[in-house]
Amino acid sequence: MKDEVESRDDRVANLKGLGSARKRVEDVRFTQGKGNYVDDIKLPGMLHGDFVRSPYAHARVKSINIDAAMALDGVVAVLTAKDLEPLSLHWMPTLAGDKQMVLADGKVLFQGQEVAFVVARDRYVAADAVELVEVDYEELPVLTDPFEAMKSDTVLREDLEDGADGAHGPRRHHNHIFLWEEGDKAATEEVIDSAEVVVEEMVYYHRTHPCPLETCGAVASMDKVNGKLTLYGTFQAPHVVRTVASLLSGIEEHNIRVVSPDIGGGFGNKVGVYPGYVCSIVASIVTGLPVKWVEDRMENLMATAFARDYWMQGKISATKEGKITGLHCHVTADHGAFDACADPTKYPAGFFHICTGSYDIPVAYVGVDGVYTNKAPGGVAYRCSFRVTEAAYFIERMIEVLAMELNMDAAELRRINFIRKEQFPYQSALGWEYDSGDYHTAWDKALTSVGYDDLRREQAERVEAFKRGETRKLMGIGLSFFTEIVGAGPVKNCDILGMGMFDSCEIRIHPTGSAIARLGTISQGQGHATTFAQILATETGIPADSITIEEGDTDTAPYGLGTYGSRSTPVAGAATALAGRKIRAKAQMIAAYLLEVHDDDVEFDVDRFVLKGAPERFKTMKEIAYAAYNQAIPGIEPGLEAVSYYDPPNMTYPFGAYVCVMDVDVDTGTTDIRQFYALDDCGTRINPMVIEGQVHGGLTEALAIAMGQEIAYDDLGNCKTGTLMDFFIPTAWETPNYVTDHTETPSPHHPIGAKGVGESPNVGGVPAFSNAVHDAFRAFGLRQAHMPHDHWRIWQIANDLGLHD
Ligand code: CDP
Repeated sequence: MKDEVESRDDRVANLKGLGSARKRVEDVRFTQGKGNYVDDIKLPGMLHGDFVRSPYAHARVKSINIDAAMALDGVVAVLTAKDLEPLSLHWMPTLAGDKQMVLADGKVLFQGQEVAFVVARDRYVAADAVELVEVDYEELPVLTDPFEAMKSDTVLREDLEDGADGAHGPRRHHNHIFLWEEGDKAATEEVIDSAEVVVEEMVYYHRTHPCPLETCGAVASMDKVNGKLTLYGTFQAPHVVRTVASLLSGIEEHNIRVVSPDIGGGFGNKVGVYPGYVCSIVASIVTGLPVKWVEDRMENLMATAFARDYWMQGKISATKEGKITGLHCHVTADHGAFDACADPTKYPAGFFHICTGSYDIPVAYVGVDGVYTNKAPGGVAYRCSFRVTEAAYFIERMIEVLAMELNMDAAELRRINFIRKEQFPYQSALGWEYDSGDYHTAWDKALTSVGYDDLRREQAERVEAFKRGETRKLMGIGLSFFTEIVGAGPVKNCDILGMGMFDSCEIRIHPTGSAIARLGTISQGQGHATTFAQILATETGIPADSITIEEGDTDTAPYGLGTYGSRSTPVAGAATALAGRKIRAKAQMIAAYLLEVHDDDVEFDVDRFVLKGAPERFKTMKEIAYAAYNQAIPGIEPGLEAVSYYDPPNMTYPFGAYVCVMDVDVDTGTTDIRQFYALDDCGTRINPMVIEGQVHGGLTEALAIAMGQEIAYDDLGNCKTGTLMDFFIPTAWETPNYVTDHTETPSPHHPIGAKGVGESPNVGGVPAFSNAVHDAFRAFGLRQAHMPHDHWRIWQIANDLGLHD
């Protein structure tokens, strides 16, 4: 009779439900090397694929000779576009409504582009055979600058009919992709033209790359006898891959099983469909054997989806007192060789029009021009929700520049322009409805916690000491207040390739009172197996430790749109809570029957239903589960299962206040981050420890992006940052200590009030680091400097400002 003596507090603790800092259940296998990643999959007779890639950024492919490669012992096939053409698979659709070459069809458009696919019995033989494929190229003029591309006579995409509309409307030049606009242009221009104060700035968010620890890969296995294709891969959206694979191959969807096993980080890099997936499927169909393709680090950095590369020309107007009156932004977006951005169909610039940020700006306009260049395609949301990172960086830089112009404290400028608590739900000038927020409370808490006024005093003293020649180190206080937008759908606004953005959860309670829940999402390190069980524990009264969470197998999981853009908690988390509530509703009827009372006479209490007014009479969820399977209950069908598909009514709008305090050495350009404070508000907190981990990881990626990480090209389109020697990944050595904090403003429309959090630290972190660098030089007149702020660039800033004289 353990139940009867256990206190209510004990029962709550035993549940490990919402709010509990439950340890991550995944870590037991990850920390012991027992994860099961794509490259761990080994099937009998498996062949290995490897790509011949273009050394040129723009060239005509005159001929491909595969004879020497085919002659190598162990080589089974070499596929070129000619082999794929009869199957109509030499090109494939992109997520952005464009099409992309699977293998070079007549020309190549970026360095590292896939030209031929070698299939061999051994991974090393495949690599050797790649070297033996002879490709005759004729070099063409290279365009790496989107502004030049829009003026150039060189036609990059010869496959597109000149003058024909693209997927997002008219194209005004052969290298133009689309112009996408939002807001009231005329009204914005009128306000800005007549404003008391206007600042204008070009804010560039450089090209970078998600660079997950595990690169992309797939194992395709075509069972020709049963007509079934199994595809294991690093997919952030396995169901979408299944549907796309079916549409492309003509294999009926029920005959395709897509499995995402453990994934070693995604950050948006594993959302799209890559030629490697298509080629391994074709190779498996052709050979009748399983085919594995796993790219190496250089291939991942040079050829898979990049992020950012937005040139944002901004104008912001205000009164002399600092009240912002209007915001105008024109973006030139470098999309590379193919428009393979991963955004909901309706939004070719993602959610960039969240760029009014956390501020009550009465009128605004955004125009985004997408442009083709000779760079790798992509344009994915690297740890962000569809271009919100660019938007947050843009507005947080514009605020700093405006503060300079007004000679105002940037914290105060933010405070007087924040959307006020009583304005929520808030309708932004660019069309979003922010669900909830309390920005002033969060900002005050942040500034008090870091001792803001003292920091400003110290900074002013430092400037004076510098001028007196007593120090060569300046001090920057990087402020950032951001509003995220996460949880795409709703279906009526958001789809990917026509598939509405809902998500799902299916739960089965076993007779002994434990459970399995399957979701349409897939964790890539976020800890879903831990946290989704916590949601269900609170909703169903079954301890989280007794619930298995399963994701990523399309044969078993309900259809879902996957995990990216911090949408798991806002969408699948809501589906999970609602599936749990369906279980509870049925459990209530069973409990009432067992207690021989009316349904309304029992109420849920932690892990049981109790008789109202007589809590000593109860039925635990364990007893109810057993009865559901083993007792004939009139009017109630046996079993205890539920499924929920959730179409969110709106997105959720997490927010946060970050402060970075940095010392900058004027002579070496080196920096020392001595304090970083991050306050996040993600509504109801499911697991504070997981949240803290998410914030630490996201901040470290933000540090990387702001301070060193970039995908850079030379004038010939050679990628200069294709290895981890050149592409900055912070280690523990560079990573500062973070102090995390929170406020909790629940979402009014989410069943448990939760908002997403995974991407917030990246969205808010980049402006905090970058603003700290800028702020260190504010007293010397620096208005805008391009990221990444590596030592060389910081040294140059100091030099340009005459601080080395
Ligand atoms: O979609 P993704 O999993 O990347 O992002 P997320 O929905 O922000 O969730 C990241 C992790 O943080 C998950 O394990 C969530 O359950 C957890 N989380 C939480 O504990 N509380 C929240 N309010 C939001 C997320």
